[in-house]
Amino acid sequence: MQYTIVYSSQTGNTAQLARALREALPAQDCRYFGPPGPDVPETPLVLAGFWTDKGDCPPDLAAFLSGLHGRSVALFGTAGYGGGGAYFQAVLDRAAGHLPEDNIRLPGFLCQGKMPPAVRERYAAAGLHDKVALFDAALSHPDGADLEALRAWAAALPPFSKL
Ligand SMILES: Cc1cc2nc3c(=O)[nH]c(=O)nc-3n(C[C@H](O)[C@H](O)[C@H](O)COP(=O)(O)O)c2cc1C
Repeated sequence: MQYTIVYSSQTGNTAQLARALREALPAQDCRYFGPPGPDVPETPLVLAGFWTDKGDCPPDLAAFLSGLHGRSVALFGTAGYGGGGAYFQAVLDRAAGHLPEDNIRLPGFLCQGKMPPAVRERYAAAGLHDKVALFDAALSHPDGADLEALRAWAAALPPFSKL
């Protein structure tokens, strides 16, 4: 099945996931790899990646998702805060809320992604010790295990698991 990998990444974490997906999936069926925009070709399957922005996907990816119709869409991305699957699922659900209902939503994948050092300084200056701990926990991500989990997720998506 032909597919596109469309992703929004500010500091490179989500781009790292996108590149790992491109390397893992059948190259001959990949019609596009890059940021959201008007030039993205229409394919039946869309892998849409994002960094978490205030608990949601960022506006550029939200706008892209809201223009999709009749596709199978799998969301992937990174979030600064980890702490378990429930937060990741909530972010994925919020991002999926930008998809019109005539799309098929496939399972999503989210992992932690490091944040810029200025964020830690802000948290520390404000005495937000819990947030400093979250920041420090994110520093090593995405790591090898995240990328391994990402590849396993992609291989299990219906269009690829049938190959
Ligand atoms: C303005 C801004 C808002 C953010 N909001 C959140 C958030 O609400 N939840 C979260 O888990 N991470 C948040 N983050 C952290 C990023 O989502 C995280 O570092 C992500 O891995 C960055 O991905 P990228 O390198 O692909 O841009 C935020 C980062 C920035 C800069």
